Amino acid sequence: MSDFDVIIKGGVVVNAADIQQADVGIKDGRIIALAERLSGSATRTIDAGGRYVMPGGIDSHCHIEQPSSTGGQNAESWESGTRSAACGGTTTVIAFSSQEKGEGVRSQVEAYAEKAKKACIDYAFHIIVSDPTDAVVNDELPPLIDSGLRSIKLFMTYPKNRVDDREILRVFEVARRHQALVCIHAENHDAIMYMTEKLVGAGLGQTKYHAWCKPALVEREAVTRVIMLAELLDQPIQIFHVSCEESAEEIRRAQARGVKVFAETCPQYFVLTADDLEGSQREGARVLCSPAPRSVADQQALWNHVRLGTIGNVTSDHAPYNIDAPDGKFWAGDNVPFSQIANGVPGLETRMPIVFSEGVVQGRIDLQKFVAITSTNAAKLFGIHPQKGTISIGADADIVIWDAERRVTITQEMLHHDTDYTPYEGMEVTGWPAMTLSRGRLVWDEGTVDCEAGWGRFLARAPYDYIKPTGHFPTPFNPITGRIEGR
Ligand code: URP
Ligand code: ZN
Ligand code: ZN
Repeated sequence: MSDFDVIIKGGVVVNAADIQQADVGIKDGRIIALAERLSGSATRTIDAGGRYVMPGGIDSHCHIEQPSSTGGQNAESWESGTRSAACGGTTTVIAFSSQEKGEGVRSQVEAYAEKAKKACIDYAFHIIVSDPTDAVVNDELPPLIDSGLRSIKLFMTYPKNRVDDREILRVFEVARRHQALVCIHAENHDAIMYMTEKLVGAGLGQTKYHAWCKPALVEREAVTRVIMLAELLDQPIQIFHVSCEESAEEIRRAQARGVKVFAETCPQYFVLTADDLEGSQREGARVLCSPAPRSVADQQALWNHVRLGTIGNVTSDHAPYNIDAPDGKFWAGDNVPFSQIANGVPGLETRMPIVFSEGVVQGRIDLQKFVAITSTNAAKLFGIHPQKGTISIGADADIVIWDAERRVTITQEMLHHDTDYTPYEGMEVTGWPAMTLSRGRLVWDEGTVDCEAGWGRFLARAPYDYIKPTGHFPTPFNPITGRIEGR
């Protein structure tokens, strides 16, 4: 019997905290040895000379086989989505079990868990709460959180899912009682509805007006408001898909005064702008997502806030809708205004290459920061560290071996998702995953896919300190216990 199942030899191991030349020894799906030179027998030896050996990516925001918020049918299955993720260097995804208004939460989680059994890599769920009734917050959410679903998502917009401020507070309360993080899609719903009516009423329904309908201040207002609500209950939150300088600045200000607010952005906000929404409805629909793509100045500001640490996490917000399908982007018809086109872009497979190329290769961030924002920080924030997000003894052998020299022109043909386009068609990047290992199993090997539906395991998350409340309320009154405690 071999000492190791796999030895990865001669690579440069990059963690969020350090870089070292080291061999990595894997047994039974875990990393069991790290040394300058490993001796011992191995069933398989991988030569990683000249390559970086990094923790597999963690994509903590992806919509996979989920009922849509904006109409149409999600194009991806759990099998295709996680296969595509693995080919792009990602080894864990966190997707959404979505509550529809008028329904419960538990039944949705159970149905979603059945679908997720087809996953090719490990996974966890956030719970989308759209209707926080007494039964949901008092009876359904507590045991679900306690069973390991330690994150909830709230939408401040989209008629189908949105919750108002009081409902947000109700969810914050149960999250604080039971130790869950709450993630927010923050945009001002009423402002968007008003602007949509005005723009479409004026005959301005082309996709370019999607960006006019929801300018940066619509996001900034909601970000600011939800931070204040979180402060009221001392509930840790993460703001999803920060797209503009204004929101990032509000988040930074809150962080500076001690609020536990975390932030993510996505590759689309680094490389797309509102100009990409111009052209025909079909062209514009390819990049139509919410928040809307912004400006080059916003892109630079987002990088700056990544460097500063305001934004800790870059996810795909993979939201796949086909262009050429009656139930895809154009589910409401071919010539509808922007407001009836499904929102979202696919990006599970291109996330890490775009961040590497635009970040590391362009000199905006270093290798360690790349690992932090694509893997380690998400592992910590969502309670799966150090099992995930690090190359260290005892961690799962979720590893991407990175070819930093490889130049790739992104095309739809080369990708492994089930969506019929990529918004990054023709984009040139430098750096691509050469190999991906999921718990020691080689699932992507120099262009060959060897994924197995059902290989992925559900990650139940125990309570963890990273998202502990600060213990400070704005007044001596603790609204969670209903007592005066602060004097
Ligand atoms: O445009 C987007 N982001 N669509 C996906 C749904 C969501 O989370 O906003
Ligand atoms: Zn969102
Ligand atoms: Zn999303």
